[in-house]
Amino acid sequence: MNLKPETLQKIDEVITHYPVKRSAALPLLHLVQEEQGWVSTEALEWIAAKLDLQPINIYELVTFYPMFRRKPAGRRHIKVCRTLSCALVGGMQVAEEFRRQFPGGPEADQGDVQVSIEFVECLASCGSGPVVMIDEELHERVDVARARELCEQIKSGVAANAGK
Ligand code: FES
Repeated sequence: MNLKPETLQKIDEVITHYPVKRSAALPLLHLVQEEQGWVSTEALEWIAAKLDLQPINIYELVTFYPMFRRKPAGRRHIKVCRTLSCALVGGMQVAEEFRRQFPGGPEADQGDVQVSIEFVECLASCGSGPVVMIDEELHERVDVARARELCEQIKSGVAANAGK
């Protein structure tokens, strides 16, 4: 598996923090996803071997926890918070608008993986919801109209970059 030396070093260190290796499965998944952007089958098998587990043990974790991605994120990656504080102020309608603008499901790739959407748990800005993160930029108090504007901006950016 092709991981940076510093990630491999962190992985080896994290494993030492647990009395039994298998308990390091979640931190290892986070470290791999942090570097690669998703958890591939190769990564999943590699983690299993590293922890003396079967791939199915890691696969179960990846499919149970919604924060792990089984597909690469798009060039533009949208995260919409769906946790309670945001939901109470219209987060679900905002999520619905993103889904409508980029149809095909929360993790759908738009054509050549230009845009991906993920519905996530709390983005740590609960007092100013609904909250949306686009790439590394946090957008607060996003109502449906603002969601539509953001989608338009993304679409025009993607169109402008097409073919580059
Ligand atoms: S609940 Fe949405 S940011 Fe915390």
